[in-house]
Amino acid sequence: MPDTSQCRVCSGTVEQFFDFGRQPLADAFVTPGRTGEEFFYRMAVGACRTCTMVQLMEEVPRQHMFHEDYPYVSSGSTVMRAHFEKTAERLLDTELTGPDPFIVEFGCNDGIMLKTLADRGIRHLGVEPSGGVADMAAAKGIRVRKTFFEESVARDIVAADGHADVIYAANTFSHIAYVDDIFRGVRELLAPTGVFVFEDPYFLEIVQRTSFDQIYDEHFYFFAVRSVQEMAARHGLELVDVERLQVHGGEVRYTLAHPGARTPSPAVAELLAEEEARELTHPDTLRGFGESVEGTRERLLALLRRIRDEGGRVVGYGATAKSSTVINYCGIGPDLVSFICDTTPAKQGRLTPGLHIPVREPKAFADPYPDYALLFAWNHADEIMAKEREFRQAGGRWILYVPEVRVV
Ligand code: SAH
Ligand code: TYD
Ligand code: ZN
Repeated sequence: MPDTSQCRVCSGTVEQFFDFGRQPLADAFVTPGRTGEEFFYRMAVGACRTCTMVQLMEEVPRQHMFHEDYPYVSSGSTVMRAHFEKTAERLLDTELTGPDPFIVEFGCNDGIMLKTLADRGIRHLGVEPSGGVADMAAAKGIRVRKTFFEESVARDIVAADGHADVIYAANTFSHIAYVDDIFRGVRELLAPTGVFVFEDPYFLEIVQRTSFDQIYDEHFYFFAVRSVQEMAARHGLELVDVERLQVHGGEVRYTLAHPGARTPSPAVAELLAEEEARELTHPDTLRGFGESVEGTRERLLALLRRIRDEGGRVVGYGATAKSSTVINYCGIGPDLVSFICDTTPAKQGRLTPGLHIPVREPKAFADPYPDYALLFAWNHADEIMAKEREFRQAGGRWILYVPEVRVV
């Protein structure tokens, strides 16, 4: 196995720091009876020696991940709906202030963010290749193009709608390996004083909290301020602002602009200094992360086996994409977690990729309550634990594994 690859941002050498082995696609929930058709790839991560960008060693072709049946629906969480309403309000106050502003969002999913803007009559366009969720956005009155965002699409948009004051992407830009094409598109589409705003999981949080389950096929890049700043500069844009967000286990919202168009905020240098002080991509830090991942696997497996051997029953909560990495890397089968409950209709009745744990509807959780619930949707812990207070009152216990394995 080669343990280097070529950086998709700068063509430098990417040095591997952790190998999860053969993994299935995290959102490829399987129809029972069709388990022979699964796609596997080698999932390993590395950091570029030149630009520090952390990335997967192998790219999965996009049509395998994002298609008509892509099951992830953004509006499943109340907290995320509130987050994106707030985001839309902020864009309205700060960027969409001209006489006829125009915003393009790529990866708009079911329209969770654009809905607020569409309701206010703001000129907008969502670009979303996954047909099922794109249809949900359209049903909400959102203007959406069912395609992958790329340079040719950006050019078409300019021809039809003119330049964008804001280009926005949440939990999407880090999914796209072909950044050179995206940046050409963004540069062409963005108005001279416009901003490209995107938010994605923060690699510093992943390392600090050992949230290794953020690593799966769709998450090609693991952004940090240093790597994003270099990436922007190499592709003709400038990083002018950063903001830490609490959602999805800790993210950063990056704001890029045409060079010289905006004065960079002091927040950029501040967060950059923090990454440097913590030696975020130093080989020792990355090795330490790998050791922590192995420690989590050992402790989680030991706990689940002990519960099983004592006759306890564990149910998974939230058939997240993240859970695929935990399940398949740790080797957690239906003998350890009998099923996973999830609110997403498209996941219910299916089996998790790889180790085939059944996914069931939420009401199965209380029918009867298990002894333990393994919280795969740990990023929604507050929302879920508040909703499931009765489980705890009935004597049930939550199992968490981020930042460490514990029972609460
Ligand atoms: N913005 C939403 C959805 C994130 S999931 C949220 O934060 O909840 C990532 C989305 O990006 C998926 O809906 C996927 O179909 C879409 N996507 C992947 N590649 C894309 C591309 N090249 N252009 C536009 N959307 C893309
Ligand atoms: P999420 O953690 O947002 O993302 P990812 O799949 O990228 O790891 O996924 C949340 C999943 O958890 C989604 O399948 C819906 C499910 N869910 C519930 O079943 N109940 C809940 O109360 C919430 C908030 C989510
Ligand atoms: Zn690089």
